[in-house]
Amino acid sequence: MAESMRGLKRTCRCAELTTEHIGQTVTVMGWVQKSRNKGGIVFVDLRDRSGIIQLIFEESGVGAEGFGKAAKLRSEFVVAVTGEVCRRSGAVNENLKTGEIEVVAKEIRILSESETPPFPIEENSKTKDELRLKYRYLDLRRPDLQRNLMLRSQAAAVVRQFLAEEGFLEIETPFLNKSTPEGARDYLVPSRVHPGSFYALPQSPQLLKQLLMCSGYDRYYQIARCFRDEDLRADRQPEFTQIDMELSFVDEEDVMDVNERLLKKLFALVGVDVALPLPRITWQEAMDRFGSDKPDTRFGMELSDVTDIVKNCGFGVFTGAIENGGSVRGINAKGQGAMPRKKIDKLVDFAKTYGAKGLAYLSVNEDGTYKSSFAKFMSDEELAALVGAMGGEPGDLLLFAADKNKVVWDVLGNLRLELARNLELLDNNGYNFLWVTEFPLLEYNEELGRYQAMHHPFTMPMEEDLAYLETEPGRVRARAYDIVVNGIELGGGSVRIHQNDIQEKMFEALGFTKESAYAQFGFLLEAFKYGVPPHAGLAYGMDRLIMLMAKEDNIREVIAFPKVKDASCLMTEAPSEVELSQLEELGIAVVSEKESGEQENGGEKWL
Ligand code: AMO
Ligand code: AMP
Repeated sequence: MAESMRGLKRTCRCAELTTEHIGQTVTVMGWVQKSRNKGGIVFVDLRDRSGIIQLIFEESGVGAEGFGKAAKLRSEFVVAVTGEVCRRSGAVNENLKTGEIEVVAKEIRILSESETPPFPIEENSKTKDELRLKYRYLDLRRPDLQRNLMLRSQAAAVVRQFLAEEGFLEIETPFLNKSTPEGARDYLVPSRVHPGSFYALPQSPQLLKQLLMCSGYDRYYQIARCFRDEDLRADRQPEFTQIDMELSFVDEEDVMDVNERLLKKLFALVGVDVALPLPRITWQEAMDRFGSDKPDTRFGMELSDVTDIVKNCGFGVFTGAIENGGSVRGINAKGQGAMPRKKIDKLVDFAKTYGAKGLAYLSVNEDGTYKSSFAKFMSDEELAALVGAMGGEPGDLLLFAADKNKVVWDVLGNLRLELARNLELLDNNGYNFLWVTEFPLLEYNEELGRYQAMHHPFTMPMEEDLAYLETEPGRVRARAYDIVVNGIELGGGSVRIHQNDIQEKMFEALGFTKESAYAQFGFLLEAFKYGVPPHAGLAYGMDRLIMLMAKEDNIREVIAFPKVKDASCLMTEAPSEVELSQLEELGIAVVSEKESGEQENGGEKWL
């Protein structure tokens, strides 16, 4: 039977007790981590979100009834204990913050009993993710998750304090919206009052924050929940949080400056001193050197463009790709020349998952000869020039991809990361920050047969490229910037278009008619007729930020109640079917999967 805590007040959290409290009578409340009954004495580790304190129960201190209660304690019982803080009678526990002290109990109340939990509540759990997520409320008791969520809360406080000091206003924008074009699918919410009409949950507050600039709130921020119906990955959830901001009368330098200082404050929370200013690299340079627009710069192994060197060589795979408008590029896996064929074949298979038709390799033997999949097609001079251009030395393994630029970058960019993982080149303690700038404004979507905005349609083209918007849209660079950390896109933003004539040209380049642009974004285009300040902004993925700060490799570890790969919640079992009457009220009829002939996940398991 659970006891009442009436008349008792918790005086502090368990691990807030220190040697300074010795001699004081305190009351702690928490969960039993473990209890050991040694006959006349019961030792209990009591846990709350601050950590653990050891409690000692002896009949002489806690009375016969109290000792009886202590003797029946089991893991996860919730208790309130009043007692005196003493120096430990036994050995000091170096692993515990409170390892020098213990509380000698005078009174105990069992506030709640517990069944045996389905997995132990402990640090570095070996429990399967599926079970952890089904019992997330228990998983969240574990110290690592508690630390992550406390860090998240601290980070939010730093954001609010810093941005308030910088003159930003925190303004909320609605969840029930008209669709925002960030490129993912919308989550739709049916309207009861307007049958057949739907709200869209925000993919980001993009348009609304731009309207706030039109309204004169010249520095806005929001810790905003965003929703995107897209495939989940380790750094993607369908519902996630942005630290979102927009500023008026600024250019990209101002946005980068305030954000660099914010990042410095945030990372100080985990003892990391971020050196400012942060390095910058253009998109073109990022692609050429790293094959990625979010390069991990913690290691080298940069790409080399050998197109010019091999364009007249005898190897048809190379020359064919070049004739098709592509390129040939390679990476030098230093010292990996002795990699066994089987491992190289694995790399070839890996490359194929990124669209490569193959992966040509050449290892430089110690005696200067080559072992290669293509050397036989080339003359000695051609080979020497190629190896020279790659900085190839005896013992090196050179890997080449030949294809359209996009494929070559994707293949080698990912291969570079795979090799770094396999060869353990990644410094897990380092944080390499990087701004990537001058993104292409538009990218051609082969499927749609038209250009698409790389960021969103409101991104300002670079002035010197404006002339190409109508003639060569693919060549136009954007005033956009991403902040990248260790190969993860942490945030992104841009200077926005604030002139209707440029906006109209942009819509034209994207294949919108004036009518279709107005149908979707009329309210913004109208607003821009009434005096709009130049403005720019940025949004961070807050979950990714905390994941990086906490050195986790999945954002689930920094979200209290995350979804799994098929976008369901294993604890609540959302999404679920609803009452027919609810659907009728909304004017919705469900077409069964069989009838619609579609089953997107194909029954795929969630991990
Ligand atoms: P963008 O679409 O780049 O820009 O999003 C900004 C940042 O949000 C994070 N993010 C995600 N995090 C977790 N799960 C997801 N599914 C997910 N999708 C995005 C990323 C990303 O860098 N309105 C613009 C910002 C602006 O221009 O001001 C926007 O939303 O870390
Ligand atoms: P093949 O002539 O198809 O047998 O290919 C000869 C070698 O070139 C093999 O090692 C292939 O993996 C490699 N290869 C094939 N296509 C490409 C490509 N597009 N880029 C780089 N290497 C390739």
